[in-house]
Amino acid sequence: MKYRVNKTAMIAGLAICLTGVAGLVQAADEPANVIKYRKSLMTANTSHMGAMGEFAKGTVTFKGGFVEFATAINAISMQIPALFPAGSNTGAETRAKPEIWSKRDDFVAAAKKLETESAKLIVAAKGTDENALKAQITATQQACGGCHETFRSR
Ligand code: HEC
Repeated sequence: MKYRVNKTAMIAGLAICLTGVAGLVQAADEPANVIKYRKSLMTANTSHMGAMGEFAKGTVTFKGGFVEFATAINAISMQIPALFPAGSNTGAETRAKPEIWSKRDDFVAAAKKLETESAKLIVAAKGTDENALKAQITATQQACGGCHETFRSR
């Protein structure tokens, strides 16, 4: 059996492909995607923080990689304001409170607080004083909670 290439069908197919690509490009940074993205980074935060929290509680003695974990939290802290652009309070399930936008300066300050505390955590993780490290893990956790209390619902 022989197949003849139908040029019209080919062009139509190509057009559909290109429209699909354009659709994907347009979908970038839509509120629903921004919400998904920031939740991923917050989950990374909580994974690192949770692990270090176990050390702070004394349930484990592991502290390998803490410099890098703290560095990751520090890097994310600097992204937080940008992760909450205007209009990203809808489009997907989100716990972001309206205060993020109505009290923008306070929100940015809360992110800055985490940046400062996680920077201190990097220093503590490089040091040898375990009590200082534990105290700074707790201080960093409080910077997370401080923001959530005001700016995250439930
Ligand atoms: C400056 C504010 C701020 C700081 C600091 C902050 N968070 Fe968040 N966090 C939020 C907001 C707002 C949300 C809700 C996001 C949403 O639902 O769109 C959130 C959501 C979360 C979530 C839920 C994610 C999900 O999948 O729904 C976790 C877990 C979390 N944060 C952990 C942390 C940890 C751990 C830290 C500290 C290392 C931290 N956050 C620091 C504001 C902050």
